[in-house]
Formats: sequence, structure tokens, C-alpha cells
Amino acid sequence: MQIQKVSCFGAGYVGGPTMAVMASKCPKQTFVVYDINEQQINKWNTKQYPIYEENLNEYINKTIEKNLIFTNDIDLALKDCDIVFLAVNTPSKSYGLGAESQLDISYIDSCLQTIKKYPLTRKLILVEKSTVPIKTCDYINAVLKNQNICVLSNPEFLAEGTAIQDLLYPDRVIIGGSLESSQQLASLYEQWVPKDKIIFTNIYSAELSKIVANSFLAQRVSSINSISIICDKIGADVNQISQCIGSDSRIGNKFLKTSVGFGGSCFKKDLLCLIYMCESLQLEEVAQYWRQVYLLNEYQKQRFINLIITSMFNCLRNKVIVILGVTFKAKTNDTRESAALMIIKKLQEEQAILRIYDPQGKIDNVEQCQSLDGIFQGASAIVIITEWEEFSKIDYVQAFNQMAKPSYCFDGRNLLSGDLMKSIGFLYYGLGRV
Ligand code: NAI
Repeated sequence: MQIQKVSCFGAGYVGGPTMAVMASKCPKQTFVVYDINEQQINKWNTKQYPIYEENLNEYINKTIEKNLIFTNDIDLALKDCDIVFLAVNTPSKSYGLGAESQLDISYIDSCLQTIKKYPLTRKLILVEKSTVPIKTCDYINAVLKNQNICVLSNPEFLAEGTAIQDLLYPDRVIIGGSLESSQQLASLYEQWVPKDKIIFTNIYSAELSKIVANSFLAQRVSSINSISIICDKIGADVNQISQCIGSDSRIGNKFLKTSVGFGGSCFKKDLLCLIYMCESLQLEEVAQYWRQVYLLNEYQKQRFINLIITSMFNCLRNKVIVILGVTFKAKTNDTRESAALMIIKKLQEEQAILRIYDPQGKIDNVEQCQSLDGIFQGASAIVIITEWEEFSKIDYVQAFNQMAKPSYCFDGRNLLSGDLMKSIGFLYYGLGRV
């Protein structure tokens, strides 16, 4: 079968960029991105992209009037389609058994119900691109039994902030499921990904690999954050520790930056999914091991909040605090599970007056400043939550001169030079640094 038409359910952080890059690399195929959310589709079609990602517009511009379509029309998506990617959201369940830990596949389910009703006229390869609980493929097969459908797992490993680069040059592409269909899917990737980077596995391994990858990355963050806590007690510097251990090629130097904790839509929910799976399999010791990675992350956020409140002598009421960054990391507009959400809530409880700024991110129902202009005037503290480059370029001497005294700076990303900030006059607090 020669693949001609590919569709993707879900026009979000994964569906939009993934299909734009695929369309640019596979000019002979047509790519249709379908979403039930009309507003979301309108934004893609009017260049008011719902997500911020470097170089994304270049890839959309290249393809949008050629072989890339964003639509709410299910017929346009499914008619004569060869491959459908499911890239809809799979948040943690918020209800019932497994609430707050198991992934909610009800959005996947609604896609299946739509596909089930549609009169397919040819074989369809249905691809799990969303991160799903293990054995979701069995559920899909059960729902779509007797239809000419082959289910594959092809998890997405892109990271927000570097999505386009990650899609152009993936470390690997994992495809799990029947070999014949896997090879058909691989024929798309082979148009730009070297063959030796495409790994064929059984379908359960492919599903599990995504959950495990995110859990390992979360574990790295919690590991270095746990060391930052020790450093704070003994006067060592966690940045130096990262450099010392990261130069060991067995450990590697990535993901060794201490921070106010990991956020984002994926790490927490995928880690909790792994924990839930271990518990369901009665593997309590394994579950406990991974649960600690999650708990340490919560602790790190709480520790940072406590640091702010206690350093300011528990007296934040009516003090102006400048919050720099609300996104969970730089170079994205995504605020899901950002540490900012918890920090803002706790500082509001302390009755502080918040001035919040982020170059891209917006939090619902919270007033934000449009720029840094005048933001430091009369403020008692600066709290850095996101590592936007813009924040390292601020003239902190000028900021200090405008601020109330004493002037605090709580750097949740170790973004600034502590020595420099202290020399300006700030009471500067980083994480795990002297
Ligand atoms: P998102 O929330 O940005 O987008 C999901 C989209 O699916 C929404 O626009 C929603 O309207 C749409 N949708 C929901 N039900 C639908 C239906 N029945 N038919 C058509 N569209 C429907 O989600 P995001 O971040 O793109 O994540 C999607 C999946 O990819 C999740 O499973 C996530 O865990 C996974 N993933 C996310 C990454 C990320 O960095 N955001 C990276 C790798 C994987």
C-alpha cells in the first residue's frame, strides 16, 4: 500500500508541529489535522497559532496551502485515509478509580467512537501518538473489532521549546505493532530520519517506552534537586556538582540543572501512570521507588515557597512581588503544571501584591503585566520561575535602584550570578548555592 493520505486527531502541542514537519518532509502525501475544537482549528488557519514554538510558522507557511490542512470536518479527515494518528490529550484521570494517577483515555475513546461510525473504504493504520496507559492498544482493538484496522504505537518524544528540532532530528522513532503496517508507517519517517534511528518493537514495549522515558527524565530532575537540598545544608554548590558528575560520560551532562521542580503536561502524569501501573500489578516496592521521584518534586516546590516566605520574615502582606515566568520552561507558552501555579497561589494566600510577567505564557484568571516596563518600581522581591533568556538580560542595578529595601531575589532556576546580585545589594537566594 502506498501511503497517500495521513490524518491526525488533535491539533495541540503534538499534533500541530508533528504534522507540519511531516508535511514538509513528505511532499507527496497529504496531511489533515482534525480537532473537535473549532476555535483551535481557526487559530491554526488564521496564523494565530495556539502554541508558541520556535520556527513553527516556517513549517506551517511552507505546507499550509500545499499538503497540510487544519479542519473540523471529519469527512475531510477520514475519507480515503491510510493512516490516522491519535494525538489527543491524555491527562491524569480526575475522577473515579485511579483518580489523579491513571491516564484518562476518554478523549482517545471519543476518537474511536467517531472512527467506528465512519464508513471506511480501505485498510486504516491507526497510530497511538498520544501517551497512553499500557495495553490501550488492546482496548482499541476491542472497540474497533471487525473493522479493517491495524493498531500501532508510535509515541512522541518531542519536548516543548525544542519541538521542531526534535521532530527534524529525533534521537529515535519507536514503532510497535505488526511488522507490515509498522514498515508502512516507517516509510513516512524514512523520508527524513536515518533508517538506523527507527526502532521496531512489540506494541506493549512501544507504549511502555514513552512512560518510562518521561519517568527517567523526571527522576533525573528529582535526583539533582535532592542534591541541591544537601548543598543548601552543607555549603556545596549544586552547579559545580552538576559539572563534576556530568562530565562522566556514563552519567552525561543533560538534565542536571537544579530548579524549582519539573512541570509541564507530561512528566507528572506519566510518572503517576507508571506508579499506578506498578500498584495495579501489586509491585509496591517498585511503586514506592517511583513515588519518591514525584514526592521529591512536590517537596522542592514547597521548599522554594517556604524559602521566600521565611526569608521575608513571614511578612509578605501588601508587599509587591515580581514574578518572572509562568510557563513550565522557557521557549513555550505552556503553563500546564508549571511551578508558577502553586507559587502564585501561595503568595496570594500571604496577601502579597503580585506583578506577573511572562513573554509567552498566560495563566487563566490572573492579571499579568504586558512588559517589564516599570515592573520593579517599589517591589520588595523578584521571584524567577522560568529560565527565559530575557530575564538574564535585565539591568538588575536599575531594578535594584527602583525597588523597596531590603530587595530580595529568589532565583528558582539559578539563572543569575549570585555573586553579582549580592554585589548589587540584593538579598539573593538560589537553590543549592552558597
Ligand atoms: P493538547 O491538549 O495540546 O492537544 C490535544 C488536542 O486534542 C486538543 O486540541 C483537543 O481539542 C483535541 N481533541 C480532544 N478530543 C478530540 C477528539 N475526540 N477528536 C479530535 N480532537 C480531539 O495535548 P498535547 O500536549 O498535544 O498532547 C497530546 C498527547 O501527546 C498527550 O497524550 C501527551 O501526553 C502526548 N505528548 C505530549 C507532549 C508535549 O510536549 N505536549 C510530548 C509528547 C507526547
